[in-house]
Amino acid sequence: MKCYSARYCTAILLSLGLAIVYGLKVNYHVAVVAMVNHTALALEEGGNATEESHEDGPYAWSHFIQGLQLSAYFWGYMVSEIPGGRVAEVYSAKWTMFTAVGVNVLFTLLTPLFSTVSAYAIVVVRVIAGLGGGISFPGTHVMLARWSPPQERSVMSSIAYCGTAAGTVLFTLVSGPIAKYLGWQWIFYIEGGVSALWLIVWAIMASDFPEKQKFISAEEKEFMANAFKEEGSGHGHMKVPWKAVFTSLPFWAIIIAHLCSNWGWYMVLTELPTYMKNVLNFKIKENALLSSLPYFCMFIFSLILGKCIDIMRTKGLISTTIGRKIATAIASVVPCGCFAALCFVTEPTAAVILMTISVTGIGGMYCGFLSNHIDLSPNFAGTLMAITNTIASIPGILVPMFVGWLCESDPSIASWRIVFFVTIALYIVEVVVYMIFGSGNEQPWNRAQEGT
Ligand SMILES: *[C@@H]1O[C@H](CO)[C@@H](O)[C@H](O)[C@H]1NC(C)=O
Ligand SMILES: *[C@@H]1O[C@H](CO)[C@@H](O)[C@H](O)[C@H]1NC(C)=O
Repeated sequence: MKCYSARYCTAILLSLGLAIVYGLKVNYHVAVVAMVNHTALALEEGGNATEESHEDGPYAWSHFIQGLQLSAYFWGYMVSEIPGGRVAEVYSAKWTMFTAVGVNVLFTLLTPLFSTVSAYAIVVVRVIAGLGGGISFPGTHVMLARWSPPQERSVMSSIAYCGTAAGTVLFTLVSGPIAKYLGWQWIFYIEGGVSALWLIVWAIMASDFPEKQKFISAEEKEFMANAFKEEGSGHGHMKVPWKAVFTSLPFWAIIIAHLCSNWGWYMVLTELPTYMKNVLNFKIKENALLSSLPYFCMFIFSLILGKCIDIMRTKGLISTTIGRKIATAIASVVPCGCFAALCFVTEPTAAVILMTISVTGIGGMYCGFLSNHIDLSPNFAGTLMAITNTIASIPGILVPMFVGWLCESDPSIASWRIVFFVTIALYIVEVVVYMIFGSGNEQPWNRAQEGT
C-alpha cells in the first residue's frame, strides 16, 4: 500500500501532539482575560480602569496573581525536561509523549473546577501542565531519532515541530470567540475535549520503534531497517557521557543557536506586537488574519526548505553539515535583517511585512539546529534536546523583563532600538558560532559506551 506511510503518519501525529501542548499552553493567556473581574480589580488596586475594556469575569485576581499563574507553566517546563529526555530514551518515547499531552488535556479540563477553589489552585495546575509540556520536546526528538531516516530527517523534523506554531496560532484564534460566545469555561472544555481524541489515536498508532509498529508495511519496515544501518541507534540503557557532551563544540553550537534564536523568537512573538501597538499605534492582535499570516508562511516555508535540503542531501549535492548550516543561516540572517530594518520603519504596513518575513525565515530552524541533535547523537537525542531547550527557555523570562525595564518608563522609538540592537547582536552571535562549530556528523561519544 503506497499511500500509507507509517513514518509520516508518526511525524504528523507528533506535530498534532505538539500543537495541542502549545495550544493548551497559550489558551490560558486568552482565558484569564475573560476570567478576571476588571472592574473589581481597578477598584481594589485604586488605579484607573484599563484602556481596553473587557467583559468582567467572576474572579478578582490581582495582577500579581495573574503573573504567577502565567509564569507557573515555565517553572514546571524547566524542571521536567532533562528527566523526561532520559525516560524517553531509556523507557518509552511513545508514552512520554502520551503523558505530555495527557497531563495537559486532563488539567485543561479541570481548570474551571480548580478556578473555583482558589487562584493558587490554578498556579498548581499550571505548574503541572508545564511539567507535562517540558517532556514534549525531548519525547518528540527521541521519536524522530528512531523514525526519521537521515535522508528524510529535515522534512520530518519540520513537520513535527511546525505543530508548535500551528497550535499556538490556532488555539489563540479560536479561544477568543469561544470565550465571547459560549463563556470562558468552554475554552477549556472544548479544546481539552477535542485534544483528548489525539490520545486515543496516539495510543493505537504510535510505536517506539518502526519494527514494532502494527500497521507498517513489510516494504517500509525493510526500508527503515536499511536506512538506520549506518547510524548507531541503540535500544537501551546507555549512560550519558556527560563530560563528552559538555565538551563537544558542535553541541555547544546548538546550545548557542537555540538560546539566541529563542531570544529572537520571543521578541517576535510577544514584544513586536507590543511595539506596534505602543509606538506605531497598530493593534495587530486585533486582526486575526494579519497576526496568523506570518505563522502560516513559516509553516509552508519550513516544509519546503526541509524537503529541498533532504533532496540535495540525497543527491549528494550537500552534506548534512552544510544542510543544517544553510537552514540555520536563513533562520538567523533573515530575522536579523528584519530587525535592522525595523529600527528605521515607522509605517505599520512595513512593520507587518517585516514581521512576516522574519517569522517565515525563523522557520528554517526546524531543519537547522533544531534537528541537529539527532545527527550528533541519535542515542541521546532526547537528553541533548532537553539540555538545549531548557537553556533556551531562559529568554522566555528574560525578554519581557528586559523590554519592560527599558521601554516601560520610556516607550520611545529610541529605547526600542536598543532592544532591537541587542536582538540583532544575538542573531550575529548565533550565525557566526554555528557556521564555525556546527556539525551534521555523528559524534564519537554517541556509541562510546556501547555494551556497557
Ligand atoms: C465585578 O466586581 C464588581 C465590583 O466589586 C461587582 O459589582 C460586579 O458584580 C462583579 N462582576 C462579576 C461578573 O462578578
Ligand atoms: C482615569 O484616567 C483619565 C485619563 O487618563 C482621567 O481623566 C480620569 O480622571 C482618571 N480617573 C480616575 C478615577 O483616576
